[in-house]
Amino acid sequence: MTVRIAPSVLAADFRHLGHDIAVCEAGGADWIHVDIMDGRFVPSLSFGSKVIDAVKRSTALTIDVHLMVVEPERYFDECAKAGANVLTIHAEAAPHLDRQLMRIKELGCKAGVALNPGTPLSAIEEVAHLLDLLLIMSVNPGYGGQKFIEYSVDKIARARWLLDQADSNAVLEVDGGISRDTIGRCFDAGADTLVVGNAIFSAADPTGEIRVLRDLCVETA
Ligand code: DX5
Ligand code: ZN
Repeated sequence: MTVRIAPSVLAADFRHLGHDIAVCEAGGADWIHVDIMDGRFVPSLSFGSKVIDAVKRSTALTIDVHLMVVEPERYFDECAKAGANVLTIHAEAAPHLDRQLMRIKELGCKAGVALNPGTPLSAIEEVAHLLDLLLIMSVNPGYGGQKFIEYSVDKIARARWLLDQADSNAVLEVDGGISRDTIGRCFDAGADTLVVGNAIFSAADPTGEIRVLRDLCVETA
């Protein structure tokens, strides 16, 4: 299984976002992860579709938008228009998951669902066959730089099993506290796409750090 590294621009320096994205590209990043927070689903505010548009104009990489907002459907059109390639909504904020996933696909984006650490996998069981991506949160969303929640590893393994059972080719992504210490275990458990914020942007050499993180994801069996 090949691994994707998705740097989260939440941890970038917004004085020179374009430069920071170029640094990620130089390190071989696969996707760029963009965290939209509304101050309601999560306590903090981050940014909106204007930043998706700025990222889009800085890179040809896939733009992976993580919507940490209530009523996410209110933002689908503007995010798609701004250049999102993947739109991920939280199951906890989406009572009409089936309809919302269909709408994302109608807009030409890949459709993802994120689960908070305390939300069971059963929340997506019925729609597993519709998912282009399943995002397992390994911190409580809202801030970068938090500590990885250890019990996420077992959940990733069960998510892999669930997707396989549903004959799903969905991407299995993990987000929060990913670093040299945690990335290998997430990959071993079955994750194929790892979001990384602070571990990349706080590194002395972000380009090199992406390569180090990728090299820690090695097939064992
Ligand atoms: C957290 C966000 C993450 C965050 C990850 O709520 O969804 O994408 O940027 O940052 P690190 O890797 O620093 O935990
Ligand atoms: Zn995120």
